[in-house]
Amino acid sequence: MKEVKIGILGFGTVGAGVVEGILKNGDLMAERTGIRPVVAKIADLDVETDRGVAVADGVLTTDAVAVIDDPNIDVIVELIGGVTIAKNFVLRALKNGKQVVTANKALLADFGEEIYRTAQENGAGIYYEAAVGGGIPVLRSQRAGLIGNRIESIYGILNGTCNYILTRMEREGLPFDEILADAQALGYAETPPDLDIDGVDTAHKAVVLASMAYGAPVPMDACPTAGIRGLSSQEIDNAEELGYRIKLLAIIKDNDGEVELSVEPTLVPEGHMIASVSDSFNAVFVKGDIVDDTMYYGRGAGRLPTGSAVIGDIMEAAADRLNEAGVPVSVTMMLQKETLAYCP
Ligand code: HSE
Repeated sequence: MKEVKIGILGFGTVGAGVVEGILKNGDLMAERTGIRPVVAKIADLDVETDRGVAVADGVLTTDAVAVIDDPNIDVIVELIGGVTIAKNFVLRALKNGKQVVTANKALLADFGEEIYRTAQENGAGIYYEAAVGGGIPVLRSQRAGLIGNRIESIYGILNGTCNYILTRMEREGLPFDEILADAQALGYAETPPDLDIDGVDTAHKAVVLASMAYGAPVPMDACPTAGIRGLSSQEIDNAEELGYRIKLLAIIKDNDGEVELSVEPTLVPEGHMIASVSDSFNAVFVKGDIVDDTMYYGRGAGRLPTGSAVIGDIMEAAADRLNEAGVPVSVTMMLQKETLAYCP
């Protein structure tokens, strides 16, 4: 049995979910793949707080750089969030030739090109399934099952916090701020939650999806963005009377070679499947030119769903390394072209 030694940077909600998932199903993963996942180190500034998961002696440390530079560690998992320290750590790990897994959509949206190129130059891999759609393997579907398709359009509910708020406003008529506080308590919301409710988190995910669909890094300013801040229960009721639900949608289309992106609250007819996506669930409709319509659905946020996506990436990164697979498709798909044309 081979082992993959994992170094986790950031022991927050998702970090604890990853450890919990590996403790629960590590044996299953080992049986299925012949590779046993071993959490060798976890770096966090706070090594005192109990995260509710068992961690062996000597695993916790405050020294993230030592973890990144540790020659015994195969896969670095970046779960710090933000774009400053996280970027330095990811680049350092890639330059060390490590496989890197991240859930950091803001980092990829803002600095994706530099990160993918650094991975390519160092023969390393960067894996980021958890950055888009939480536990749903929506990026993997594009780079695996749909690899033979040109993507015509993508419609996505990509933010669990906003969908949770919209659902409860609709069902219970509660005020926005009260529901937002619940979303924070459940570990769905970003810190600060403005990124969620102003649509920026959805836009981060939309540019990662569009980059993969169309083969070049997409800048954030190519994605006009509006969120749900200030939306009233009255507006939701009005939409309902007319037979619609309001959903925060990322819309990505190929208009004859020009990519069109936007994020905005959208009226969705009640009979459409996307209208019935409730609570923190996400859903993504992808239309390919061969397959036609496909849909992906699942929990878009939270400790275990996001942990599940991170674990999937860890196991893929480990298998790629053992098989000497070279630069993975998760990198090459993002760097097919220098630039893209956008609809104004
Ligand atoms: N804040 C994000 C959301 C977390 O609510 O969807 C998952 O990316």
